[in-house]
Amino acid sequence: MAEKVKICDRTFEVMIPATQIAESVERVAERLNANFTDEDNVVLLGILNGSFIFLSDLVRKLNFRVEISFVKIASYEGCNSTGEVREMIGLKSSVKGRKVVIVEDIVDTGHSITHITALLRAQKVASYDVCTLFFKPAAYQGKEEIKYRAMEIGNEFIVGYGLDYNELGRELADIYVTKC
Ligand code: IMP
Ligand code: MG
Repeated sequence: MAEKVKICDRTFEVMIPATQIAESVERVAERLNANFTDEDNVVLLGILNGSFIFLSDLVRKLNFRVEISFVKIASYEGCNSTGEVREMIGLKSSVKGRKVVIVEDIVDTGHSITHITALLRAQKVASYDVCTLFFKPAAYQGKEEIKYRAMEIGNEFIVGYGLDYNELGRELADIYVTKC
């Protein structure tokens, strides 16, 4: 793995190696496996774009049946939240009465999760839980419980394993950090 990568105007340093990410994904999958069975008819709702790698690794560790759906939203420009959540692809399948597990790459201010959970309540889902690869507790301003968190970080800006800086860096297998 490269120690440093340059993306646009910023230098990023390696922070979490792929092996450690895999262990965290395994642990969070075990918690989901303990709490859900086939009969729950779970819908995994991936939040695009950032969750695509996490969701694809996670789903192969689950031992209960799931359906997979996606929504696409955006709230970030560069390394800062705009505070406004734009919906680019809405909910395509009906989730009424279903148990939904929201799969996020990272929960930061919580604006995105607040937006998605309001959407799910309006759809009258049976239940929803949040499962995120990363959680930034010091930045979180939301009210929703973030039940399944694979890893926690400080107020840092990271890229790799699906997470981007200006849409770049998602393909990196390890997590890299920059100072904003
Ligand atoms: P929130 O709405 O502030 O919780 O931000 C959530 C979204 O912002 C995530 O789904 C990411 O797409 C993006 N985001 C937040 N922090 C980072 C980061 O450190 N790196 C890359 N994207 C981030
Ligand atoms: Mg995201």
